[in-house]
Amino acid sequence: MSHPLLAGKKGIIFGALDSQSIAWKTAEAVAAAGGSFVLTNAPVALRMGTINELAEKTNAKVIAADATSLEDLENLVDQAQEILGGQLDFVLHSIGMSVNVRKGRHYTDLNYDWLAKGWDVSAVSFHKLLQTLYKKDAMAPWGSIVALSYIAAQRTFPNYNDMAENKAYLESIARSFGYFFGKEKKVRVNTISQSPTLTTAGKGVAGLDGFLNYAERMSPLGNATAAECADYTVSLFSDYTKKVTLQNLYHDGGFSNVGVSQEIIDSLPSDE
Ligand code: NAI
Repeated sequence: MSHPLLAGKKGIIFGALDSQSIAWKTAEAVAAAGGSFVLTNAPVALRMGTINELAEKTNAKVIAADATSLEDLENLVDQAQEILGGQLDFVLHSIGMSVNVRKGRHYTDLNYDWLAKGWDVSAVSFHKLLQTLYKKDAMAPWGSIVALSYIAAQRTFPNYNDMAENKAYLESIARSFGYFFGKEKKVRVNTISQSPTLTTAGKGVAGLDGFLNYAERMSPLGNATAAECADYTVSLFSDYTKKVTLQNLYHDGGFSNVGVSQEIIDSLPSDE
């Protein structure tokens, strides 16, 4: 899909690790829609990943930033404005990590140092980013900021572990900071609650395959892919959604409003 919806718009995209990343697909879609941007990721991810390939393809500069470091964020926002020539129109926060999930620690036996680290990376980093953009007056009026979430913020999914609380916190930050960004700067702040997706972060969740299958059969339109999420994000960065803010927007093929699907019922053994 490519319409010049973002012609002349500029921004920052966090979180493109490899070609499966939601942020990678978003960078491609934003470039196809005429937007220009700076790509960023944590220094360690830049060493491991293939971001330079994406940068070349989308004509973007890459700036390293650990999203938990205010110093890195300040430097990133200054440099991005210098490179792109002024205030920003869009920012994507596509960052998530739980040490407890990575190390296979069960939810009933959490390590709290790991919990604090995951919370900082996955949730507080969004506040740090918003605060940096706000204080530096780095967003242009009618700009748009999007972060990625998951429905475990509202409902229980046993293997999602402490990421459930991180997502609930992330969504709350979008509403709380979105109020001030709207009032003072006319800037939108939203989260997209995306279907389960096969990415590096997604694969960290135990049993993702079975769960993808289940979600696919529960959703009337089927699971939303990373590329479809990218298109949705382009619409939220565009001028066609100027009054959408403080929302958690489900992009999940309808999953969030289905109690049970006939396919799931039919797949269960009957008592008769
Ligand atoms: P991914 O693994 O490709 O992206 C996660 C990114 O976070 C990576 O690029 C990683 O380097 C970055 N990151 C980790 N620590 C960081 C730090 N300290 N500073 C800066 N960046 C850091 O996986 P995916 O799935 O594309 O994840 C993107 C977002 O989408 C995350 O917020 C994730 O929770 C969310 N999401 C993913 C779903 C899935 O099933 N894959 C479903 C719903 C939401």
